[in-house]
Amino acid sequence: MNTEELQTLILKTLDAKGSVSNTRELTTFDGKEVDQLALLGALMSLSLPGEEMVQYESIEEEIWVLTEEGNEIADKGSHEAKVFETIPPGEEGITISDLQKLLGESAKIGQGQAFKNKWITKNGNSLVRAVESVVDQVKIDLKTIRSTGKHSDPKVLVELKKRKLCDKHGEWKNEKFKKYNFEALGILPAGDPANCTQFPTEYLERVKEVHSVGGYGSIGYGYDWKIEEAQKLILRTHTTAVSSTMLYSLAQQKEFKPVKYFSIDRVFRNETVDATHLAEFHQVEGVIADRGLTLGDLIGFMDTFFNKMGVKNLRFKPAYNPYTEPSMEIFSYHPGLGKWVEIGNSGMFRPEMLEPMGLDPEVRVIAWGLSLERPTMIKYGIDNIRENNPICRLDKRMGKEAAH
Ligand code: PHE
Repeated sequence: MNTEELQTLILKTLDAKGSVSNTRELTTFDGKEVDQLALLGALMSLSLPGEEMVQYESIEEEIWVLTEEGNEIADKGSHEAKVFETIPPGEEGITISDLQKLLGESAKIGQGQAFKNKWITKNGNSLVRAVESVVDQVKIDLKTIRSTGKHSDPKVLVELKKRKLCDKHGEWKNEKFKKYNFEALGILPAGDPANCTQFPTEYLERVKEVHSVGGYGSIGYGYDWKIEEAQKLILRTHTTAVSSTMLYSLAQQKEFKPVKYFSIDRVFRNETVDATHLAEFHQVEGVIADRGLTLGDLIGFMDTFFNKMGVKNLRFKPAYNPYTEPSMEIFSYHPGLGKWVEIGNSGMFRPEMLEPMGLDPEVRVIAWGLSLERPTMIKYGIDNIRENNPICRLDKRMGKEAAH
């Protein structure tokens, strides 16, 4: 029944009677069942400011509602009634297996209750009717409960609740609730501490020196290196921070052994989000350390790596990183976007990065950091990197045009 019909019902009833003490009296209209929740909606619409055609007050009472199965039975009849209807009248009846074929699940559930009601009985291997006709009282009771929220016989409610066909509704209304405090401030999220205070002191001194005045063949950055900056804990902008930590521990080992390190992890950048940039993404980073490695090894490794994923068109472009020399950006052609897209950055870690760690000057380290998202776009032909990331959005672009 739609809102307009319900509004008509309310207005007509009030016109005739003047008042209604409980809307549950309005059970049917034009032969259709009245849904109390929908009726409340109609009542609200008639009492909106500006309309004010009716006045109403809500009454607190125990209301019973049907479960999904209860609703189904109220519409289509109980399982036991279905069983009775399916058994043809007469001595022959129907075999249990035929009944099962016709009714499925209902046959199993309905049989027991139909026996209990003495509606059916056994004749050899067959089920036969034991009475001429039956009244599907369960269906009638459920319909009553559905439209009135009640039943005059409490035993019926208990029985139907036991059969999981209906349940009490709105019991929370009897509970006491704490008032919502709109002034309350949220608990601060448990973030990391703002600063780090533990450093390997000697390594720290060497890093400070190489950054500010140079060393190991480098002229350094010529800036005033400050411990306060180094102590700041920030969301990492690249996984190379992880590679550095790993290489530092490698350098602490007594004897150098060649290694390959890989990591996949989340990184964060202050980016304006667009079709090819995200503020949060994943990097796939790799490091190979051995004596005598060359740039050719790096190019070869990248080629194999991407070819395995089906990304075939690669271009390498000289680039700058403060921690690698030479450095190469890796590009791949994206047919959807119709352009070459940067999918990674790579290079050979500089001596002024590795030697302060304590690594043997003969050891060469090739490394790369790739965005997980970019090659995925190319492989699966996705034109917009935001497709699965609608929540990433920052508005100001800062610093150098970031690589990803
Ligand atoms: N850290 C670089 C980036 O995020 C990737 C990279 C890793 C470059 C290792 C060289 C060596 O772009």
